[in-house]
Amino acid sequence: MCGIIGYVGRENSERPLEVAREALARLQYRGYDSAGIVVANELGLSFAKRAGKLAALEEQLAAHPLPLASAAIGHTRWATHGGPTDRNAHPHMSQDGSVAVVHNGILENHALLRQELIEAGVEFQSETDTEVAAHLIARAHAAIGDLAQAMRSVARRLEGAFTLLAVAADNPHLVVGARRTSPLVVGLGEGENFLGSDVAAFIARTDQALELGQDQVVTITPESVTVTDFDGRAVEPRRFTVDWDASAAVKGGFPTFMDKEIHDQPNAVRDTLLGRVSRAGRMQLDELRIDESLLRAVDKIVVIACGTASYAGQVAKYAIEHWCRIPVEVELAHEFRYRDPVVDQQTLVVAISQSGETMDTIMAIRHAREQGAKVVAVVNTMGSTIARESDAALYTHAGPEVAVASTKAFLAQIAATYLLGLYLAEARGTMFPDEVRSVMRELDAVPAKIQRVIDGEAAIRRLASEMKDATSVLFLGRHVGYPVAMEGALKLKELAYIHAEGFAAGELKHGPIALIDQGQPVFVVVPSPRGRDVLHDKVLSNIQEVRARGARTLVVAEEGDRAAAAHADTVFWVPRTPTLLAPLVSVVPLQIFACALASAKGLDVDQPRNLAKSVTVE
Ligand code: AGP
Repeated sequence: MCGIIGYVGRENSERPLEVAREALARLQYRGYDSAGIVVANELGLSFAKRAGKLAALEEQLAAHPLPLASAAIGHTRWATHGGPTDRNAHPHMSQDGSVAVVHNGILENHALLRQELIEAGVEFQSETDTEVAAHLIARAHAAIGDLAQAMRSVARRLEGAFTLLAVAADNPHLVVGARRTSPLVVGLGEGENFLGSDVAAFIARTDQALELGQDQVVTITPESVTVTDFDGRAVEPRRFTVDWDASAAVKGGFPTFMDKEIHDQPNAVRDTLLGRVSRAGRMQLDELRIDESLLRAVDKIVVIACGTASYAGQVAKYAIEHWCRIPVEVELAHEFRYRDPVVDQQTLVVAISQSGETMDTIMAIRHAREQGAKVVAVVNTMGSTIARESDAALYTHAGPEVAVASTKAFLAQIAATYLLGLYLAEARGTMFPDEVRSVMRELDAVPAKIQRVIDGEAAIRRLASEMKDATSVLFLGRHVGYPVAMEGALKLKELAYIHAEGFAAGELKHGPIALIDQGQPVFVVVPSPRGRDVLHDKVLSNIQEVRARGARTLVVAEEGDRAAAAHADTVFWVPRTPTLLAPLVSVVPLQIFACALASAKGLDVDQPRNLAKSVTVE
């Protein structure tokens, strides 16, 4: 997820650069590991780009000012392909400097296209997928002479999710954009027009906007906006007025970043899954650089993480053990390190971390590597310490997670560890390729199911408001529902400051049932009735046990599970999902509930007391 701005005005001035800098400052929440701007005037293209926060680019601009110009495109990056370096920062230039491109998304077929360009003599300057587009657009532009047509011809060849903006040296009064799946909106001005990855890019300049649809190309000049499909057929975009202020615009119109990030979860899972199956139908984790023979020799997997990330690991445990028939231990990093663990060359450590900077996890993987283990990092932040200190990294593509309480990164971590499990199962031969593809098809269907749960959020929010005075809430789950219950409890603790506890449902009778009193709220995550039915029946018994003692039962159950509903005071329905994949949907009502209850209590949802987004101390 990156921040993008495009601007075109009537004459040469400082305005294009001003607009771009202001937009990037506002778009930093979309990506901030590098940034860059290119401006266009009659003399051609001039650009500045730097790794690091926007301040680094500002320093560069102060030292080497860009010239007056009539057009500009700018970019704040959240790295997906190629680390956060100056060379990988956007914009990317064509070899002859005639075209500059910025990009948000993932080009699934970039490797194939890169090879084709290398064979045609192109010398690449970066490791990014975006640079492929820059060269292709420049070559098409040189052949066709029209930047919009060049963009259309290239867009038709690209696979994956992308928003591309391009500007050419031969026409500084025109910016062209193309979008597929990744966002792009048009801002309408007087004698000037804007393009942005979202309205936050230009909200300070205009509230008149055009919505762009799937597979469309837009051309902006100071006086016109032209939209076509990828085949050049004219399209009439919908015009709307942006009724957000600048602050709301940065949150996409949501009241908090957490609300926004909960709603961004379908994209986070979709983007994490994107491009993971080769044309031959085999798993391809191109950033996973561990030899398959070593993976086949692995006799134990140890997941190391903290907090929410550790619950993602616990979910993965059930899937990986089932698919790979390897024992999976899930360890809290701060415990692992001091308990003299049994780790050797046949151990594969999987370190899960959104920030990639959690000191407990860093210290734990250092210890594991000293014992000879290979370490795979499942991280959301490219170039982070955990990624750099691991033998390989498998990136989640959740985009920046601003709220301290993790939501979209959690779902992306689960999706990424499923990918790792399927990759291992294929490499070790414990699953047939067609079985792997079948699970991948089910995974690809999950984002839409997450969206359906989100679409039903109003009822969850109403319930949360009713329950805002609760002082204790219990969460029960069994099998993969158990880590979901733990995560639901953690969300309520860290957001609403309510004592909440997650239990394995089977543990109730071994003590916790003593906590049940009249009216005690108990969430229960019910397994699919179509899965291991013994699990389903056991959990129904647990619900009856607590209800018989006065508990208020709030049940997360699969649509149509009337048996579960019969014992529930409240039911949160979730779409039918295979048992091992169910956590991706069953946790969503619990996230919404905790977020809404904290809001109802007037608490700071994005910055809860006592917490930091990344715990960089032991
Ligand atoms: C999640 O809501 C918490 N903010 C916290 O448990 C977090 O998951 C944990 O600190 C691990 O952080 P990491 O994923 O950045 O390593």
